[in-house]
Amino acid sequence: MRKNIVAGNWKMNTTVPEGVKLAQEVNEAVAAACDLKCDVVVGVPFTHLTAVKAVLEGGKVGLAAENCAVKASGAYTGEVSAAMVASTGAQYVILGHSERREYFCETNEMLKEKVDLALANGLKVIFCCGESLELREAGNYADFIATQVSESLFHLTEEQWANIVIAYEPIWAIGTGKTATSEQAQEVHAMIRALIAGKYGDKLANDTTILYGGSCKPSNAPELFAKPDIDGGLIGGASLKAADFMGIVTAF
Ligand code: 13P
Repeated sequence: MRKNIVAGNWKMNTTVPEGVKLAQEVNEAVAAACDLKCDVVVGVPFTHLTAVKAVLEGGKVGLAAENCAVKASGAYTGEVSAAMVASTGAQYVILGHSERREYFCETNEMLKEKVDLALANGLKVIFCCGESLELREAGNYADFIATQVSESLFHLTEEQWANIVIAYEPIWAIGTGKTATSEQAQEVHAMIRALIAGKYGDKLANDTTILYGGSCKPSNAPELFAKPDIDGGLIGGASLKAADFMGIVTAF
């Protein structure tokens, strides 16, 4: 059976001391919570990975980087490789966030390379997909999302899929306060699961965790997470305050 996961994506927020404090608060709250129905992960900037890992050591909260390089190593000034991320003790890497696709021109083909490097270095991938408002209004979002998923992930083996988590994040809902309705999210999640089933079969599709992201907060998380194909959330703004984040973690 698939896991429920609530993952924070801090994006380009917090200094290292601020991030360490936030990680401590989340770690303590998760340790104190009994009967949690989901795994908890924090996605932090590269600069924070080692210090946050030290805070989380021995606890229940997983650690993610927000990106990794498209190359394995070498003369790529300023880039951070999947091997470097893995060497910090992080277990996950978020790939293909719409902000990276839009502002840093990441393509499905580049993301395929990044996914391969991440998996080769033992990282689990939180792979983001999702459509713009234009595509949503034009009604052809399903094909767009199917292309994102298939072009970057459908070369993988079934064994490799055990380390893939999908995050559906409609761009029009990110940081806008405009959450997709639980029905809109459920429709796309079911569509993604059917797409995976068509390629790899029902068992693998049913075992794949599919998260929702986009203005998810304590007030709307219970309704979203109650949907059959929504297995948790990828949380931006609300992951920057431990109390808000925990309000989503405990929504299951
Ligand atoms: P918000 O929760 O701030 O809308 O961000 C969602 C997101 O982009 C998570 O990756």
